[in-house]
Amino acid sequence: MKKILVIHGPNLNLLGKRETGIYGKVSLERINAELKNHARRLKVSLEIFQSNHEGDIVQKIQDAQKAGFKAIVINPAAYTHTSVAIRDAVSAINIPVVEVHLSNIYAREEFRHTSLIAPVAAGQIAGFGKASYILGINAAAGLLK
Ligand code: DQA
Repeated sequence: MKKILVIHGPNLNLLGKRETGIYGKVSLERINAELKNHARRLKVSLEIFQSNHEGDIVQKIQDAQKAGFKAIVINPAAYTHTSVAIRDAVSAINIPVVEVHLSNIYAREEFRHTSLIAPVAAGQIAGFGKASYILGINAAAGLLK
């Protein structure tokens, strides 16, 4: 079975408790369970990783290909707007990376309108709540070689 890596960036461990008006009331655990079910239906296997630390995310991206992953779906969260290191890691690898966001970052504060990741990602999906991840997995599955 082909493997896809899902990466959740900082503060996404607080989903369900954090700014629920923007991010919804569903916990990360529940979203992850739904993603696993969805992956089963698509006949791909998922590993899911969450970190609040930029360097850990960089390392996970660097190691992904060697670990056998064929694509990455990432919500870089706040690092979307700040992290040259995560962008460079995405650029450095040879598997497709799909960027996802729960909220529509372009409809929010101006500092969220810039994604440093988007120019080096295969594409970006934003604004559909947890469905952004489902759409991201569908997109990643469609890119599998
Ligand atoms: C987010 C949007 C980011 O601007 C924010 O910092 C997040 C979550 C989203 O999924 O909508 O933490 O990536």
